[in-house]
Amino acid sequence: MVVIDGKQVAAQMRQEIAGEVAAMVSQGKRPPHLVAILVGTDGASQTYVGHKEKCCNEVGFRSTVLRLPEETTEAQLLERIAALNADTDVDGFIVQLPLPRHISEQKVIEAIDPRKDVDGFHPVNTGRMISGLPSYLPATPDGILSLLKYYGIETAGKTCVVIGRSNIVGRPMANLLSQKGWDCTVTICHSRTADLPQVVASADIVIAALGQPEFVTGDMIKPGAVVIDVGITRVPSTRTKSGYKLLGDVKYDEVAPKCSYITPVPGGVGPMTIISLMKNTLKAAQKQIYGN
Ligand code: GUN
Repeated sequence: MVVIDGKQVAAQMRQEIAGEVAAMVSQGKRPPHLVAILVGTDGASQTYVGHKEKCCNEVGFRSTVLRLPEETTEAQLLERIAALNADTDVDGFIVQLPLPRHISEQKVIEAIDPRKDVDGFHPVNTGRMISGLPSYLPATPDGILSLLKYYGIETAGKTCVVIGRSNIVGRPMANLLSQKGWDCTVTICHSRTADLPQVVASADIVIAALGQPEFVTGDMIKPGAVVIDVGITRVPSTRTKSGYKLLGDVKYDEVAPKCSYITPVPGGVGPMTIISLMKNTLKAAQKQIYGN
């Protein structure tokens, strides 16, 4: 069994991106600029945005975080988005989700210029992705594809079960793996799936992205399967300084001995999602700066 080292793969890709940024700067161009909007004080969101900011610094991007109060109205947020859409010094931006309940996430996502939508959440990017056209891919599915490629994991002709049908992970993941080049036979499981354990047990590749800690147990895994754990839930813990620990959607101790490959939590998929965001931002900057 191989434990997939997302931290190491991400570190290598960070170096590659840093090299491209250095080349741009040495040609007298400005570095790529990513803006993150964070509304409110959600602890996990603050941590994620902090990681994105740190990664920007590491690869040589300019990074700006707009911290807005919880009471920000939808109209005020849409105004900020319009300003970022028009700002030629900003290559890409993200609005960290979830948003406070009084703000429509869909309206916010649709307000972002698809050319600056480095999260790949805008319906234009989703539609282009589904059609197999160039687009900004959502970070988590793209990060998973990078891991599969890096480890040389065969996907063609394999059965893949994706657990979870979110717009951010499950649905794009299932779609991408069914496309030419990946060539998986994909099933999506969700809360209404009949006999889910049996469906999961038929899979060569299992992608757990439902957000329920330790949902996938050893009995659901076919021996030799590849298991990718997207879950990252904070649960209270008396053993850590922060007062919480992170749990994946997979019961690791039971599942790992049955797998050929498995991603740990933390250190598996998580570090890769940030790299994908950096890749998208670099692409957006190259388009804006070089016009290609
Ligand atoms: N919240 C959880 N994941 C993400 C992500 O990839 N992008 C944004 N904007 N918010 C998130």
